[in-house]
Amino acid sequence: MSLLEVRSVTQRFGELAAVKDVSLSVEPGELHAIIGPNGAGKTTFFNMISGFYRPTAGSIWFDGVDVTAVPPNERVGMGMARTFQITEVFPELSVRQNLRIAVEITQGLRLQLFSRRGQTAATEARVDELLELGALGANADRNVGELSHGDQRTTEIMMALATNPKLLLLDEPAAGMGTKETFDTAVLIRRLHRKHKLTIVLVEHDMRVIFNLADRITVLAEGEVLDRGTPDEIAASEKVQVAYLGEKREGT
Ligand SMILES: Nc1ncnc2c1ncn2[C@@H]1O[C@H](COP(=O)(O)OP(=O)(O)O)[C@@H](O)[C@H]1O
Ligand SMILES: [Mg+2]
Repeated sequence: MSLLEVRSVTQRFGELAAVKDVSLSVEPGELHAIIGPNGAGKTTFFNMISGFYRPTAGSIWFDGVDVTAVPPNERVGMGMARTFQITEVFPELSVRQNLRIAVEITQGLRLQLFSRRGQTAATEARVDELLELGALGANADRNVGELSHGDQRTTEIMMALATNPKLLLLDEPAAGMGTKETFDTAVLIRRLHRKHKLTIVLVEHDMRVIFNLADRITVLAEGEVLDRGTPDEIAASEKVQVAYLGEKREGT
């Protein structure tokens, strides 16, 4: 069975069906990208997978379990981790402190506020591992708020990985970044996928980020699946080109 199986989900907001009858299956080890013009329903779809929105219709299966009604925090406990389109870190704390918090939450130690047990060797070892994985060592003791947008995003991704997820969900990891930071973020995601064999669902508006990364791509437009295939197939898809061109015209 697929690690993630989304079966014909729909999300209505009043009159508007932001996502209509969309299905998706993601195999273990796959990097699946979801792309589409602004307003296509990508974030709404993502919020249903992570549990922030309950689908109006359809069901979502994770690791063989129907999670349609399972709240987001429990999905994290089951091995689903997510990052947000807007970076969620504690800017006034250091990279190391941010990672430590994520590791401690995972280990269930945050409840023991007045003990020193949160700072065990195991916690520190895991924090060091995450610093290395994200190549954040040089910035470990700087406040996250002082770092580049790219390094803040990396910190956030490492916090998500602190939970040892089976599936990592990324919503526009390169949003608001310049060319170099976009490239660096793509390199990081590629490494997590290829080297560490993480299963990843990546929502991205910027096509440059995903063409060298994704195993398969699902294209959403106006809440529906417009096309699906390998990066080469999607790059050659006239339907997809038309959808993106239409967006450019509207934007100018
Ligand atoms: N919470 C909400 N309430 C009402 N409408 C929403 C809500 N979230 C998104 N929408 C609408 O749903 C459509 C899809 O939005 P979204 O999922 O954010 O698209 P994308 O992430 O692809 O840009 C848009 O028309 C948007 O205005
Ligand atoms: Mg979005």
